[in-house]
Amino acid sequence: MKIEGYWLASGILGVTGSILRRVADSGADAVVTKSIGPEPRKGHSGPILSVSHGGLLNAVGLTNPGIDAFHDEVANLKDVGVPVVLSVFGNTVEEITEVAFKGEKMHPTAIELNLSCPHAEIGQISHDPKLTFEYVKAVKDAVECPVFAKVTPNASDVVSVGAAAERAGADAVVAINTVRGMKIDIFQRRPVLGNRVGGFSGPPIFPIAVRCVYDLYEKLAIPVIGVGGVSTWQDAVEMHLAGASAIQIGTALISGIDVFQRIKEGVQKYLRDEGFTDISEIVGAAGRD
Ligand SMILES: Cc1cc2nc3c(=O)[nH]c(=O)nc-3n(C[C@H](O)[C@H](O)[C@H](O)COP(=O)(O)O)c2cc1C
Repeated sequence: MKIEGYWLASGILGVTGSILRRVADSGADAVVTKSIGPEPRKGHSGPILSVSHGGLLNAVGLTNPGIDAFHDEVANLKDVGVPVVLSVFGNTVEEITEVAFKGEKMHPTAIELNLSCPHAEIGQISHDPKLTFEYVKAVKDAVECPVFAKVTPNASDVVSVGAAAERAGADAVVAINTVRGMKIDIFQRRPVLGNRVGGFSGPPIFPIAVRCVYDLYEKLAIPVIGVGGVSTWQDAVEMHLAGASAIQIGTALISGIDVFQRIKEGVQKYLRDEGFTDISEIVGAAGRD
């Protein structure tokens, strides 16, 4: 698949075929499903969402129907109308490989490996280059379609993790998942989220995402898919300049599903006004001398 355009990020509206189609109809160039695991999973107890400092804290806990039920829901992902990236996770190399292998029968355009949810057990994988290598390599050996590795800003060295994914054969890296965060209710004097710790997303994490994309673009040969806090066309341009070939959008959908169209039109106008003919002319331009 061509790694370009503006995609729905994993976990936001991505769990039924009809919703994926609605997002596609609203202008998304591709959609990523909610992360699907081997078995149905209830997720964490509530509250699972809270707003804080202009962003969103979530500890959904990877709620999902499991790969077999998801297959019953959307047997053929090609029906969605735009490329569909199936996001998968597993607690072990064997589990994630099995989910990816079963998932490929749904004809996704690519498979994205969620190695990095900060409020579930799997969050540890993408802190460790060796584990990341093992997970990516096993899935690459098991499926034919392109495989993307989603990394975390919570790792002390995101570039080593991205490089390990590249060595294992990943076709792109997706940066970033949510940032570990917490909110405390000052009158109850305890954490707001049922899981206490959650993943922070939305505009406040944008500079963190830009830094990760910039560093990864500098060191890797495979494309970087940028995600984290993008809500305007100016953000999208900045993310492209840092090195993102394609951009995923999640939390900004709260303000309306037309966000894809708004961003696309803004970026196109920027390119025209600044004298560029193609987006590829600005991808990574901020890192060039
Ligand atoms: C409610 C919610 C659920 C999410 N679920 C997933 C998920 O299942 N898998 C995953 O890889 N990322 C998940 N994410 C992370 C997003 O895909 C994205 O990486 C992150 O929110 C940063 O982008 P944003 O600021 O545009 O939302 C979730 C984010 C939110 C807000």
